[in-house]
Amino acid sequence: MDQLEQLVSQAVADFETVSDANSLEQAKARYLGKSGSLTELLKGLGKMEPEARKEAGAAINRAKATVEQALEARREALRKSQLAEQLAAEALDVTLPGRGNGNGGLHPVTRVLERIEMLFAGIGFSVADGPEIESDWYNFTALNTPENHPARSMHDTFYLEDAPGVLLRTHTSPVQVRYMHQHVERYKDAATMPDIRIIAPGRVYRVDYDATHSPMFHQIEGLWVGERVSFADLKGVIADFLRRFFETDALQVRFRPSFFPFTEPSAEIDFAFMSGPNKGKWLEIAGCGVVHPKVLRHGGIDPERYTGFAFGMGLDRLTMLRYGVDDLRLFFENDLRFLSQFR
Ligand code: PHE
Repeated sequence: MDQLEQLVSQAVADFETVSDANSLEQAKARYLGKSGSLTELLKGLGKMEPEARKEAGAAINRAKATVEQALEARREALRKSQLAEQLAAEALDVTLPGRGNGNGGLHPVTRVLERIEMLFAGIGFSVADGPEIESDWYNFTALNTPENHPARSMHDTFYLEDAPGVLLRTHTSPVQVRYMHQHVERYKDAATMPDIRIIAPGRVYRVDYDATHSPMFHQIEGLWVGERVSFADLKGVIADFLRRFFETDALQVRFRPSFFPFTEPSAEIDFAFMSGPNKGKWLEIAGCGVVHPKVLRHGGIDPERYTGFAFGMGLDRLTMLRYGVDDLRLFFENDLRFLSQFR
């Protein structure tokens, strides 16, 4: 049975030389596979005399067992070395220092808002706010926009399900009447009511989405109510603001007649730079007008005695112009590659 012994040692040697599981299984097939050499020997038993067959069969099976043992041992050895290799490759050095903390920063819209608040503070405006989830009454009715008024379809409004009369405010104008109520209440026992002079920045919502419209965006409402406040004051305040905001006197401002139910007369404010990359291009920046008497009355203020002006500016638009950003969506995607430029 020299031949068998030779086969066994050949198999064991083959198993030792392979270095991965795949080659090991191929080597196995040569001996124990369907037409492997040991399998062939077993098949040959059928042709033998019964006596010889018994002896040869036992010897072949012993040889087969030895080969299988060697195979299993080699499999195990390969598994272990592969694991060791993997552990070495994926080793973590827990003593390495950390990657450090990135510095946070204010969002560009927040930076511009703070700048605007500072500029208006300089001419006596304080900052007011109101809820983003607003009643239909403050958002529309109090602003002289009753049910079925065509102006309502100018705004594509998000209404709250199961809450009739509740919506996401479509503009910051509802803060006008809310603030009038607070102001009147505060000075009801005083001999004279001081002027209302506020800006009211915040998030507003409309059903809209493209490069220049986001379903959520920011406005800044402005309101000045007093005894002799006129459209001329509005023009002065806005022109002065734009020049300070953009740090240049080289800009033109124009008031284009428009319509809002809560102001009369109403206008759109456009301005144009007289130099730089946007030179000569009229840019729309706000809606404005003289506060409608009905709105003052809804706020508890006597329109025979007081007048006022209001405006609503697009904060995101101002931020885009200040930093030269051309896609509004960048402000709301939270991409650090964009945001870190404003740190
Ligand atoms: N609320 C108006 C808008 O969102 C803007 C506006 C504010 C117009 C105040 C006039 C007065 O379009």
